Amino acid sequence: MIVPGYRDHSAEQWDPVAPVDASEAEDFLRRCYLENPRLGPVEPRLAIVRAQIAATGTYVHTPDELAHGARMAWRNASRCIGRLYWKSLLVLDRRRARTADEIFSLLVQHLRTAGDGQLRPVISVFPAAQPGQPFARVWNEQLIRYAGYRGKDGRTVGDPRQLGFTDAMCGYGWRGKGDDFDVLPLAIETPTEGLRLYELPERVIREVPIAHPDYPWFAELGLRWHAVPAISNMRLTIGGVHYPLAPFNGWYMGTEIGARNLADTDRYDMLPTVAACLGLDTSRESTLWRDRALVELNRAVLWSFERAGVKMSDHHTEARRFLAHLRSEEKAGRPVPADWTWIVPPMSGSLTPVFHRYYDEMDLRPAFYLDEEAASLARDGTRCPRSEIMRG
Ligand code: ARG
Repeated sequence: MIVPGYRDHSAEQWDPVAPVDASEAEDFLRRCYLENPRLGPVEPRLAIVRAQIAATGTYVHTPDELAHGARMAWRNASRCIGRLYWKSLLVLDRRRARTADEIFSLLVQHLRTAGDGQLRPVISVFPAAQPGQPFARVWNEQLIRYAGYRGKDGRTVGDPRQLGFTDAMCGYGWRGKGDDFDVLPLAIETPTEGLRLYELPERVIREVPIAHPDYPWFAELGLRWHAVPAISNMRLTIGGVHYPLAPFNGWYMGTEIGARNLADTDRYDMLPTVAACLGLDTSRESTLWRDRALVELNRAVLWSFERAGVKMSDHHTEARRFLAHLRSEEKAGRPVPADWTWIVPPMSGSLTPVFHRYYDEMDLRPAFYLDEEAASLARDGTRCPRSEIMRG
């Protein structure tokens, strides 16, 4: 899809050794200053940035450029249904943090700032990667995630998605309680200190116990989930500059927990249990016991978050908001790249308006990317061989 004035990037492999691409810097700065007239004319700024890149291989964003760039990256996130509020992203400039201790305490502050009820979208931006230099990163995929353990009988305890990562943490000496909802330690790696593990203080881990408005037995399943989804291993790229550590959070849409985390067969796989408690006929698929259990599980999640006073949206409301976002961006003359397979909720897809249409598929920048190496570290604490070669 071609939109004049917007460059479609094909999903990229990051070359951490290459200097900043000056044309990408220019694209970004022109757009940033165009969208923010109060920043003044872009030409003098371009001259400075060109000179900085020629001399050092990179350049330094002003706080305004950083903030707007991070918001643009959210705006461009084609898998995110929640983009209506992209302008309200709170951007914390953490580019001066160096040590693992500093980074950890700023991550704790991030969670505090995100809140524990009336949540707000926040991103903390840590130092940019310097071409060819090692950089600080967090191995975890999210700041808060539950450990997964392989039990003796072959059944898993906790979140199966975190089996490999939990193993890796245990290999570094971490010991969890061995429960279904043990919060993993943060694995922070810096160039000078290597890998260090930190336990988050309980006061920044807001959790919601899951109960059901009509079925008292539901609470006894002992389900819970954390209030804040905070992705911590995606690289933020703005105008050719890469920020490998830029954790961000929004708030949950109920289905992420009720139709995926607690329901997927390779996650907590709760539908058979819920169906049994509901007394459903599970002998044949055509009774739709899975679907019926799924609805009750999702009612429970939404009701529990509401009761706890923790912000969460349902998929009907969020889908409508996304269409409002499409309209307002269209009015501003901007394309809205979107990935249908991610935008459509994982339950009742056709009941939501986002199902009944197609979207522009483009890769616009600024953007968030999940690099292979970052995915691999989050999966099992290893670096994939390919990136190892690239790092030299
Ligand atoms: N789906 C992920 C999870 O269940 C979170 C992804 C980001 N979600 C969000 N609402 N910002 O943990």
